[in-house]
Amino acid sequence: MGHSMDDQEKSRQQLGSLVDAMQQKIQELETRQRQCEKALHDSQQQLQQAQKMETLGTLVAGVAHEINNPINLIMYNIPLLQKIWSDFMPVLKERQQQAPDQKFGGFDYAFLADNLVQLLSDMQMAAHRVAKTVLDLKNFSRQSNVAEKTPLQLNNAVNNALRLAQTTLRASSVAIDVQLGENLPDIEGNLQSIEQIILNIIVNAIQAIDHDRGRIEITTGYCNQDGKVYIRIADNGRGISQAISDKIFLPFVTDKQAEGGTGLGLSVSYSLVKAHEGEIFFETTPGQGSAFTVHLPSVMKGQAPKILVVDDDSAIRQMLIEALTMDRLYLVEEAANGIEASIKLGTYRPDLLILDIFMPEMDGLEVCRTISNEPELSEMKVIITTGYPEHPKLDEVVALGYTNIFSKPFDLLNFIEAIDRILAG
Ligand SMILES: Nc1ncnc2c1ncn2[C@@H]1O[C@H](COP(=O)(O)OP(=O)(O)OP(=O)(O)O)[C@@H](O)[C@H]1O
Ligand SMILES: [Mg+2]
Repeated sequence: MGHSMDDQEKSRQQLGSLVDAMQQKIQELETRQRQCEKALHDSQQQLQQAQKMETLGTLVAGVAHEINNPINLIMYNIPLLQKIWSDFMPVLKERQQQAPDQKFGGFDYAFLADNLVQLLSDMQMAAHRVAKTVLDLKNFSRQSNVAEKTPLQLNNAVNNALRLAQTTLRASSVAIDVQLGENLPDIEGNLQSIEQIILNIIVNAIQAIDHDRGRIEITTGYCNQDGKVYIRIADNGRGISQAISDKIFLPFVTDKQAEGGTGLGLSVSYSLVKAHEGEIFFETTPGQGSAFTVHLPSVMKGQAPKILVVDDDSAIRQMLIEALTMDRLYLVEEAANGIEASIKLGTYRPDLLILDIFMPEMDGLEVCRTISNEPELSEMKVIITTGYPEHPKLDEVVALGYTNIFSKPFDLLNFIEAIDRILAG
């Protein structure tokens, strides 16, 4: 009797912990669902934005083209007028002496002598400004045909953009903190365009700072999840005003009319980023600052081997991810148990699975059983890691054909070299 009470108590406990585990799982799934929904929403927005930009691009290209010829005509003829005027002045002066009351276009000679040169050079300046706007518009609409792409280092573009920003920077009291990632893979791009993207963002950052504690942080690096190289430019300026935050990438959106802003900077950057198949996004907190991030595909994308690290110990996952992405350019994703791993195996399709055996919920052995029956995963290389190499479970793992076994703790350098070999072989 007592025995069966025990049994009952035991199964009640088991049931209880099962329910707990399920509830936890449900919560995790709900979180993941929310993440997916957000990702979907974001990409829908990006798509809508992209379509809007394309229509605008066509329109803008047309307008720019129409303005281009007349403005060139004006620009090239003003110097001619200036030259004619300087030859003409003595003639007018003589004429004035003969007929002191004579007016030219309603003005007397003295007024013209004082003002016409200035008037012409103002006209020339204005024409140049229109021509510059046309050029910006043309850049904006150039969309997907950026001239000549070559493999280049993002960090070089950053340094060039910083040089171009020197004058603006010196005029402000903003401190710049630059942290360039090392060993970044090349990007396939147009150097001038990339510089332009960065310069526009830096200039905006400087302009957004209206106090004397100004600071801009520039970071570059490699994102091991999407194989892209990124640059992040963060300022502690006034932040992007709510009123325009959802349209700052559209042309002519500006809150700097008074200072001569045309609102083209970010729209040009946006279309240049798109022409490089990249992404640009920002975070902002009113009164505290903004950060713009640009991701650009590296030449590694599509070539870099993908690795899935599965371990319930987050410290080990972290250590491996760092080692695999610091001087190697592997793409790495992680999972904390067998269930997460199974989900990721389906979508991420890694070239190499690094699998711990003893994990809660679903262990590594069960993962091995599943993948050994999955023809689509037969090409995937597998490395087993375990703290208990003598455990009978390992015999089963070997029997399933998984013989690359490493006991923890392992020598990291050796381990990484073994990974290189296995992936190469
Ligand atoms: N770092 C930033 N901090 C705060 N606001 C910003 C920042 N970057 C952009 N903005 C906002 O986005 C608007 C659009 O920027 P964009 O560079 O396209 O145009 P602009 O700087 O106003 O003019 P232009 O670049 O043509 O001289 C800016 O007017 C500003 O309101
Ligand atoms: Mg700008």
